[in-house]
Amino acid sequence: MTTTIRGGQLARLLGQWHSLPGRHRSPDYAALAAAVRGLLSDGRLPLGVRLPAERELAEALAVSRTTVSAAYRTLRETGHLNSRRGAGSWTTLPHGHRVATSGLWAAGDDHDMIDLGVAASAAPDELVPAARAAADDLPRYLGSAGYHPTGLMELRDAVAAGYRARGVATSAEQILITAGTQQALDLVLRLSVPAGSPVLVEAPTYPNALAALAARRARINTHGLDAETGWDGEMLLGALRQTRPRLSYVIPEFHNPTGHLMSADLRERLAATAHSTGTELVVDESWVDLALEGEPMPPPVAVFDRHSRVVSIGGMSKGYWGGLRIGWVRAAAPLVQRLAAIRVGVDMASPVLEQLVAVRLLDQAPQVLGERRARLRERRDVLAAALRRLLPEWSFVLPRGGASLWAELDGPISSALARAAEDVGVRLAPGPRFGLDGTLERFLRLPFTLPAEDLTEAVRRIASVRHDLDRASVPSWRTPSVIA
Ligand SMILES: Cc1ncc(COP(=O)(O)O)c(C=O)c1O
Repeated sequence: MTTTIRGGQLARLLGQWHSLPGRHRSPDYAALAAAVRGLLSDGRLPLGVRLPAERELAEALAVSRTTVSAAYRTLRETGHLNSRRGAGSWTTLPHGHRVATSGLWAAGDDHDMIDLGVAASAAPDELVPAARAAADDLPRYLGSAGYHPTGLMELRDAVAAGYRARGVATSAEQILITAGTQQALDLVLRLSVPAGSPVLVEAPTYPNALAALAARRARINTHGLDAETGWDGEMLLGALRQTRPRLSYVIPEFHNPTGHLMSADLRERLAATAHSTGTELVVDESWVDLALEGEPMPPPVAVFDRHSRVVSIGGMSKGYWGGLRIGWVRAAAPLVQRLAAIRVGVDMASPVLEQLVAVRLLDQAPQVLGERRARLRERRDVLAAALRRLLPEWSFVLPRGGASLWAELDGPISSALARAAEDVGVRLAPGPRFGLDGTLERFLRLPFTLPAEDLTEAVRRIASVRHDLDRASVPSWRTPSVIA
């Protein structure tokens, strides 16, 4: 299976390559090569993709074939392109560079460390009263063995009601309660992705989803999101048609890490295309509760599912508390039963008490989520103001939801910056964590879940080490930095 990019598609991705910042009278071929390297580094152009033939790209860009030829030669010399005579040229990175995406986020035990590695909030005030009330509910279940592999019916009911409120008919039988969204994804992958199956994910994407896919030994292809504009619909659907993946994993609501919200139109076309390519579409709705601007949300992708191709996963970690470990799958009822059968081989069932706490919290959804959104909005604005003041050369789109901001840095320095920030007591999740193979070095995810004063202090410390990095050597294309 080969993924190819056509001349017109690459031309569109390259955009204004003639006038990229930092271009000082360099010849066209060098500017073109630099622009392709930039796309690779941002993850917008996946690795292992066959570039268009020289003549085709020359036509699409309205430049001479010599220019494209020289650009490809330069890319080969810098290790960004592998060519085989008569077969074509494939994107790669120098020195077979790869980055471990173990996705292991340790909770901070160092109290002086400001932890910007995790985009999750502390528990709401309502949690302890909900837990006390749940303890009162518990006796109803104590007479049974307590194993409910699909989840407590009252919680499944509450989750199904949430889907109905968002406009998609859903019965409790279509809901499987899991240990967080992460287990929901893992179970779906266990069922649907035999080792070696092709899957399509966004780049960047959620690191622990990459870890779950790696555990299933999936063959991962990527669709690159633009930091400013999000999904390119044509490219995404084109990638589906070309790779015909077994499964595609997307985060349409306040995508982690970029914060983008997928339009209703693209949701509809995505569901239809997934059907035509025989792809199971796994929609991660982890962030759906956290719209920060009060605007109406597009319908859930499942609304457009006419052929049971869509499996939605979600949970309570972002709107309520990650420590609850409550998530779910919404799928066709027979699929829920098959997933539950697999789940029994993993952990039997979710704890009854936590599920009762979840029911109590979902009962107070408007209040809990209202407070959470107001707080996140405030903190987002504090973080954005600190960045504009102290790191004005960085750019970002102010996210309209979620809990983190995807900053474009002033160079491919994300990993180096994360290492330097650790020395001054700030833990960061550098861009490459959110991609494959060491791309995304020009980006950094910055969550705004911590109190305002911590965010301001963190930016102050980051700005101080950013300045020092200029004096130390900044990694170049030829010596990419690796996160172990
Ligand atoms: C997109 C996405 N999916 C899944 C998760 C994991 O969620 P949970 O704590 O529900 O397992 C996260 C947490 O950051 C996330 O951002």
